Amino acid sequence: MARMTLSRYLIEEQREKGVITADLKLLIEVVSRACKAISIAIGKGGLGGVLGEAGSDNVQGEAQKKLDVLSNEYLLEANEWGGHLAAMASEEMDLPHTIPHRYPQGEYLLLFDPLDGSSNIDVNISVGTIFSVLKCPEGADLSTPEAAEQAFLQPGTQQVAAGYTVYGPTTLLVLTVGDGVVEFTLDREVGAFVLTRSAMRIPEDTKEFAINMSNRRHWEAPVQRYVEEMQAGKEGPLGKDYNMRWVASMVADVHRIMTRGGIFMYPIDAKTRDKGGKLRLMYEANPMAFLVEQAGGAATTGYRRILDLQPEKLHQRVPVILGSKNEVLRVTGYHG
Ligand code: AHG
Ligand code: MN
Ligand code: MN
Repeated sequence: MARMTLSRYLIEEQREKGVITADLKLLIEVVSRACKAISIAIGKGGLGGVLGEAGSDNVQGEAQKKLDVLSNEYLLEANEWGGHLAAMASEEMDLPHTIPHRYPQGEYLLLFDPLDGSSNIDVNISVGTIFSVLKCPEGADLSTPEAAEQAFLQPGTQQVAAGYTVYGPTTLLVLTVGDGVVEFTLDREVGAFVLTRSAMRIPEDTKEFAINMSNRRHWEAPVQRYVEEMQAGKEGPLGKDYNMRWVASMVADVHRIMTRGGIFMYPIDAKTRDKGGKLRLMYEANPMAFLVEQAGGAATTGYRRILDLQPEKLHQRVPVILGSKNEVLRVTGYHG
């Protein structure tokens, strides 16, 4: 059986299944190329001079790492001239990046978290890139970056594609175009992403949870109750022993859940209540929620399905609970 590269997968999704357009195929290939470049830069580490602080802050007031800035540049440069995009938005940019007039405009909007898990860069732990693709509404005003923000404010149900790359022991690209979830592994010698798993499914039940326990005293009662019940183990109301994992790179935590199940929570808490949560809706929660639902899992804020939320601003934050369906439904149920 011939190796199924990302290019071939996309051609089949376009030509045989009619699931994607030629421009969306191009877009995903371009994103994957930028991710290869990011993967190479990360792989060089200290030898490439890419570790450490950039000496600047992003719009969220977070200190940028050199790799946050570099990854953002790679994605911007790769996607600017292909003619497939109307605009791009990123965690690392205050306002959307509109396509310069010297290039053709396309019909898609691309959002990304160029480097997820920044706190793990300097300690050689897996990081990633997350991306989400929307269609640009017809007649949208893209005349200024300020005006362009409006075009992006669509609920996650409108996503036409989403994915992430994990830069770990291997570099993986996990993708959905609304036709299930597939995983590609980067063949470093050949420089191609090769299909390694298709029709990925998240087991509906799990014994593994991921949450930053240091925030425990700030959580709301439903999450307090759920975590207490899991910790009570076999003797408790859930009747089984649970294990805990927290990588602190959402991509790595979600990828583990994609692989063997689990529940990931960054719930609303007293510390982040004013901001609406910790994780960003449009380029973290929405793409991950789309992938998780496509793999048979669930994703909520505790109160509502993430994909149904109507975004009010580009850098909006939300509480996130996602993963194995039965566990997500249980803790969502505790929220009443
Ligand atoms: P980013 O590096 O893009 O800012 O995202 C970091 C996020 C996410 O990847 C992770 O799940 C979470 O922040 C970790 O938060 P804590 O450091 O509070 O555990
Ligand atoms: Mn992130
Ligand atoms: Mn980031």
